[in-house]
Amino acid sequence: MVNSSVPLSDLVLAIAGTVDLVDEQIAGHHTRVAFIASEIAAALGLSETERAEIVQAGVLHDIGALSLRERLGIMEFEAENVDAHQVVGYRLLSMFGRFRNTAEIVRHHHASFADSVSRQLPLGSHILNLADRVAVLMPQKPNILAEVPGIRDRISAGAGKAFMPAVVEVFMDLADKESFWLDAISLPYQYLKEKIEISDAALSGEELLEFARLVSKIIDFKSRFTAVHSCGVSSSAEALAGFSGFGAEDLRTMKIAGYLHDIGKLAVPSEIIEKPESLDFAEYGSMRRHTFYTHRVLSRINGFETITEWAALHHERLDGTGYPFHIGGNRLSLGSRIMAVADVFTALTEDRPYRVGMEDRETLKVLDAMVSRKALDGNVVGTLGAHFDEINAIRKNEQVRAAGEYDNFCRNLVPAETAVQGLSASSYST
Ligand SMILES: [Fe+2]
Ligand SMILES: [Fe+2]
Ligand SMILES: [Fe+2]
Repeated sequence: MVNSSVPLSDLVLAIAGTVDLVDEQIAGHHTRVAFIASEIAAALGLSETERAEIVQAGVLHDIGALSLRERLGIMEFEAENVDAHQVVGYRLLSMFGRFRNTAEIVRHHHASFADSVSRQLPLGSHILNLADRVAVLMPQKPNILAEVPGIRDRISAGAGKAFMPAVVEVFMDLADKESFWLDAISLPYQYLKEKIEISDAALSGEELLEFARLVSKIIDFKSRFTAVHSCGVSSSAEALAGFSGFGAEDLRTMKIAGYLHDIGKLAVPSEIIEKPESLDFAEYGSMRRHTFYTHRVLSRINGFETITEWAALHHERLDGTGYPFHIGGNRLSLGSRIMAVADVFTALTEDRPYRVGMEDRETLKVLDAMVSRKALDGNVVGTLGAHFDEINAIRKNEQVRAAGEYDNFCRNLVPAETAVQGLSASSYST
């Protein structure tokens, strides 16, 4: 059961916490940018609501940079090719009604002040632009104060060119204070939560679903091979739960858990997810971290206890050979067992870099074999077999729809180097 008062601030910070796990070079980038932008917004006298939107934009600003290569590229001070990730971020965030202003800020967060004077960009974009460039100049080393003079010089050299002069001015005042820098590098989670929760209002069940669907796109669009995976798992898990007697509220919980089950994959580099050859030991280790992160991130969200359990245990196996907790036997709830079956079933039908998807009914043989070796629940696989055509049609329809959305999303987007590539909806239609 989903607690209806799930705070949006928890959800926003959950995404930010995961995307920053992808590489140590970018650890903490989003939270630092959000902190710096927030302090600048306050010094400029913006309202608490405007400030909350800017903090929200700060913690989400680079979600459009889907591959690690692209993310590391934009961490250079003189970054080039920044357009794609701004547009992708804007379009992803626009899918959720409450992110309308946040999406606009993200859309222009690398716009140079001098090049955009005639365009009336949101002030938040100018603030984020400067905060972002300050953050990329901050070393991961603890002795930040030794770096401050160099950072100040680089930023003041950009006043009136890359940066809005009024924003540079308040930044220079803030930069005088040692506490500003030391706060920026210590974990400002609680600080950020307090700033964002000003605009928290309880999300309705439908909004929660809308938000989870947005997150599933951020996860799935990392690779065209996984572009419709979460929605396939979500719809087949919901259908399996329906045939297992779950009530309406639990069905929605299952759907949300399905959308979020791979949120920990945001911490796995796209280069590993897309690798055409089989993974070596280290790469497989990186991949195996994802369910742990799903658990860690979702369990921080107030009211998400059931979602966390159903989502994060999808690679556990009844015989205890799964990961990451090696939970087996009767400690796996029916919801978690359903998610495990939905995940394997959906994955088998999809093309992957190293194999093409399996014929529909062939998947049942693989699932039955997994039941025989006590990996998956026999009753759940039995339910799938008994209602195969119906459940499979639900999965397919959802994935065809999502593939169409993905194609739409990719169209006209693209500099060649972005990780987003078209996916033919027709490959899901037979
Ligand atoms: Fe960026
Ligand atoms: Fe950034
Ligand atoms: Fe997974």
